[in-house]
Amino acid sequence: MSESTIDNRLHEERRFEPPTEFVAQRIAGPELYEAAKDNGPEFWADQSRELLHWHKPFTEVLDWSNPPFAKWFADGHINVAYNCLDRHVEAGHGERIALHFEGEPGDQRDISYAELTAEVRRAANLLLSLGVSQGDRVVIYMPLIPEAVIAMLAVARIGAIHSVVFGGFSAESLRARIDDAEAKLVITADGGYRKGSVFALKPAVDDALEMIASPVDNVLVVKRGGNEVAMVDGRDLWWHEEIAPMSDQHHAEGFEAENPLFILYTSGTTGKPKGILHTSGGYLTQAAFTHKNVFDLHPETDVYWCTADIGWITGHSYVVYGPLANGATQVIYEGTPDSPAPGRWWDIVEKYKVSIFYTAPTAIRAFMKAGRQIPGARDLSSLRLLGSVGEPINPEAWMWYREVIGGGVAPIVDTWWQTETGAIMISALPGVTSTKPGAAQVPLPGISIDVLSEEGTHVGPEAGGLLVVTQPWPSMLRGIWGDPDRYVDTYWSRFGDKYFAGDGAHLDADHDIWLLGRVDDVMNVSGHRLSTMEIESAIVAHEMTAEAAVVGAQDDTTGQAVVAFVILKSRFVDQKPADELVAELRNWVGQQIGAIAKPREIHLVDELPKTRSGKIMRRLLQDIAEGREIGDTTTLTDTSVIRTITTSLDDE
Ligand code: WT7
Repeated sequence: MSESTIDNRLHEERRFEPPTEFVAQRIAGPELYEAAKDNGPEFWADQSRELLHWHKPFTEVLDWSNPPFAKWFADGHINVAYNCLDRHVEAGHGERIALHFEGEPGDQRDISYAELTAEVRRAANLLLSLGVSQGDRVVIYMPLIPEAVIAMLAVARIGAIHSVVFGGFSAESLRARIDDAEAKLVITADGGYRKGSVFALKPAVDDALEMIASPVDNVLVVKRGGNEVAMVDGRDLWWHEEIAPMSDQHHAEGFEAENPLFILYTSGTTGKPKGILHTSGGYLTQAAFTHKNVFDLHPETDVYWCTADIGWITGHSYVVYGPLANGATQVIYEGTPDSPAPGRWWDIVEKYKVSIFYTAPTAIRAFMKAGRQIPGARDLSSLRLLGSVGEPINPEAWMWYREVIGGGVAPIVDTWWQTETGAIMISALPGVTSTKPGAAQVPLPGISIDVLSEEGTHVGPEAGGLLVVTQPWPSMLRGIWGDPDRYVDTYWSRFGDKYFAGDGAHLDADHDIWLLGRVDDVMNVSGHRLSTMEIESAIVAHEMTAEAAVVGAQDDTTGQAVVAFVILKSRFVDQKPADELVAELRNWVGQQIGAIAKPREIHLVDELPKTRSGKIMRRLLQDIAEGREIGDTTTLTDTSVIRTITTSLDDE
């Protein structure tokens, strides 16, 4: 985070009170903070009983006897899918639309709760017929189409574990995730629509399975893109053919509250992604609670739209589990914001009269650049609440969001959370909090947050430090799949009994929290997490590369961007023109990880700046990547390196 952003924050005086009409209808009032205060885990127990159906009510609330391995509601039994589906139908809401699906080519499907329930039951029966049972892992690699949601819920319904892999990840990333989870089944599609054409998914599954160590019994393939795909006899099955004969009757059995619900891989500070593990009862409690209260959900009248893909945690908690547990009506959209034209998102808001809208600052900044005339040409008056997630939102973008998208009245909630936290942790409550542009502000009721110095003492007010969570929370990760030591090391070794989030934060004079970005070797590109180590190891895996260093550099649109400094093996240096070598390396990173990890810039250099002990000086590289003056270089072993780097930068 640059100095200037921090300056803006310090001089930020604007405050916005919730509109009177909003307050009059608000779902969450100040009494929620009262109810949570001094009530500990019991607050969550009350919320869980109120928001969810328990097949067998719990009597135990929190078991923290073996920290950091928490158990919530452990003796209760619950079925996550039943909570998202059947119970709404049984309550008389079967006709309510659950999903307004909008495909990128313009096709549309409205799916009611009754229909979605029937489809998920069929899919559950199909999974059972393929031999999938409780605890088995199912990898889902799909475009954002209704079948993706159906697949997730069907897996949950039978007590199995899904691992959704974002469709933009490469065959190699997919392989690593299938292998690590030892998945039994992969659910995919032939392809999906993106930027006006079909992108293929099934071939990546084929490639991944070719490289794989563990056996995958079957691949279920949804027909979506219509692109030609190869089907392996005895292994690959068409979803529509298999599901047709399935019964829409299926009894949802209750599973233990701590039955694993999903694994979701995310980048850490090493080259190997972490399989973040979430379980059922506590996760669903906090997903439903936050979705209802942070988004002020009136399920009878609201149309909610979260633009995230199901490949990320936001798609899990705020497209699938939170909204459906609350019986919301929502929009899901397959494609990109600017397809076929830059106003596509705003067309969708107008068409479905979206009232609650949740997106990432990157998207807002991209629309800012394109100009206010684009949203200005649509009727966005249905919007009454806006949300932001994934990265710090700069005050300029916040104000633009409020004025241009929110008509100058809709409250904005800036929600801080992580794959690991499972659900929102820090946010304004829209009918209570007076909001500040750029600050995530306050911990939610029932959540305990602190900002600590390196030594572990409370900082502030008006000071910066490291963000921690001081008490266990229901939707917390339960571990890293197959690696309990890494779980303890990564999150619980720095401050003992406090969860270390990896983010820097500032507490202002009102005790409001401002997020300042990651303090570890994790980058945040367009609200998505990437690891510098992971990209470095991908680059050095290329035969041309001798050494590489990767940094996250500030970027006006994507927050941060990947910038790589690469030393080539001498025999490759003059083999081809530099731009061809760079293009080859960029594509290679795309193949190894996925398009999202492709560096914005690759600088071919002769040497990398290192300390005497041989550590790459990333700060310095970051200064260079961000075009700042090069600071004190006295600790460099060879100052000529810097000249080399700046020279090669000037060359471009
Ligand atoms: C990291 C988590 C939570 C879903 C999307 C990202 C950053 C997230 C905010 C926010 C400032 C934010 C943090 C966090 N982050 N939300 N409102 N303000 N920073 O999930 O990939 O697990 O990344 O995203 O740095 O640690 P994720």
